Amino acid sequence: MKRSLEEHAARFDEQADAYDGDNSPEYRACADLVIEHADPDGDDTVLDLGTGTGAIALALAPAAGHVIGRDISEGMREQARGKAADRGLDNTEFGEGRFRDPNLPDGADVDVVVSNFAMHHLSDAEKRDAIETIASLEPTRFVLGDVMFFGTPDPDEPFYSPDVDDPATVGTLVDAFTDAGFALTAVERVHDQVGVLVAERVPMKPPAEDSP
Ligand SMILES: C[S@@+](CC[C@H](N)C(=O)[O-])C[C@H]1O[C@@H](n2cnc3c(N)ncnc32)[C@H](O)[C@@H]1O
Repeated sequence: MKRSLEEHAARFDEQADAYDGDNSPEYRACADLVIEHADPDGDDTVLDLGTGTGAIALALAPAAGHVIGRDISEGMREQARGKAADRGLDNTEFGEGRFRDPNLPDGADVDVVVSNFAMHHLSDAEKRDAIETIASLEPTRFVLGDVMFFGTPDPDEPFYSPDVDDPATVGTLVDAFTDAGFALTAVERVHDQVGVLVAERVPMKPPAEDSP
C-alpha cells in the first residue's frame, strides 16, 4: 500500500460529496458487470468491500436478502447511508471495515462478496491476504471489478495514479484467487487497464469411503 489506511480514508473523506458525479464510462461499465455477475438470490447476504458511496451495494440491495457495505472512509459511508434512506432500502448497513478485516457482525454468513474499483489501493501481497480473508468467509462467489493490467502497465493511460494506487496484473490476481481455492468462471476486459473477475469457490470433496 503506497499510502496508509488513514491517508486513503482522509483522501476519500474529502472526495465523498463529489464522488458520484465524477465517473468514467469504463467505471460505469465495470460497475454494471460486477452487479450483473453478483446476481444474488433473495435470501443471500452480500458483502461489498470498499463500498464507497454504495454504488454496487445499493444496486444489489433490492434483489438480495441483506447487504453489508464496508469501507475505511466515514465520509463515503455517510453518502451510502443517505442514498439508502432516500431509496427506502432497509436491508443495507454501512460500517467501518477493511479488506483484510471486514469487521462483520457476529454470526454473519456471507454468500456473495463484491468489490469495485477499490482493491488496487493494496499492494500485491496485501491483495493476496485480502483474497485469503475473503475465501475464509466461504462465499459461493466473489466478483472483483477493478483497475488491473491485461497488458503492460501504462501509467499515462487513465484509471490509476502510480503515487497512490498499486494495481496488479490479471495473472497475479488469478494466481491469488486460485491459491485461495477459487475457480475463475469469467474474466471480462473492459479496458486494457480495467476488468472484472468472477471467482467461485471450489467445494471441498469429501474423502472417498475406502481411502486410508
Ligand atoms: C474508488 S472508491 C470505489 C467505491 C465503490 N466501490 C464504487 O464502485 O464506486 C474506493 C473506495 O475504497 C475504499 N478503500 C480504500 N482502501 C480500503 C481498504 N483497505 N479497505 C476498505 N476500503 C478501502 C476507499 O475509502 C474508497 O471509498
